[in-house]
Amino acid sequence: MKVVVCKNYEEMSVAAAKIIEEQINSKPESVMGFATGSTPVGMYTELAKDCSAGKVDFSKITAFNLDEYYPIAHSDENSYVYFMKENLFSKVNVDYSKTNIPDGEAKDAVAECEQYEKKIEKAGGIDLQILGIGKNGHIGFNEPDAKLYANTHLTSLTQSTIDANARFFESASLVPTKALTMGMATIMKAKKIVVLASGKDKKAAVSALLDDRITTDFPVSMLKMHSDVTLVCDEAAYMDL
Ligand code: F6R
Repeated sequence: MKVVVCKNYEEMSVAAAKIIEEQINSKPESVMGFATGSTPVGMYTELAKDCSAGKVDFSKITAFNLDEYYPIAHSDENSYVYFMKENLFSKVNVDYSKTNIPDGEAKDAVAECEQYEKKIEKAGGIDLQILGIGKNGHIGFNEPDAKLYANTHLTSLTQSTIDANARFFESASLVPTKALTMGMATIMKAKKIVVLASGKDKKAAVSALLDDRITTDFPVSMLKMHSDVTLVCDEAAYMDL
């Protein structure tokens, strides 16, 4: 595993954006896997800036997001459709018809998950998947549990994730309790994976990625079985490990 430790959040964001740009510049039609949450926001800002400066061209990429709350309206400010539009898609020259996010408005969640998985396969698989980490070690919304799921599926969020995400809502009781998420195998099939982590809250999860354990208690620890993972984190997430 490659580990890039940056001084702070800003440097982490620049370093992560550089990796994405290298990917897209070397393969303009890359299939990109994107994440939401606070961690990648700075990276998306960098990408938008560099796209405006002509340093990277998103016009030929295909994008698949990791997850989405379920159910949720696309127009809801907390939906990941809204997040991606606000933070990246409206600021770069992406072809909207080639962006994909599990559909929080789907009537049949199971059918939606099956279709999503097939769409990724049909696109040729993900070239580079960006991941954040939950402080409980989740990736996507694959939450710590005795068993994990391979493919895109409907899942229940743990209380720890509901509490962590409550900061985006008026109260914890308004956080959706379910989500559609890529599964562990969907993520592991990506050719390259870049994991971002910032802040001391993520230390336990970063530690589970870097030590020798492979445990469903920390889904992120499974990434040790992937041959091309880069962790880009700041000192606060890494210090004393
Ligand atoms: C988001 C996602 C989640 C987040 C994780 C960390 O699409 O799949 O796994 O990456 O919850 O969130 P932040 O970055 O807000 O700490």
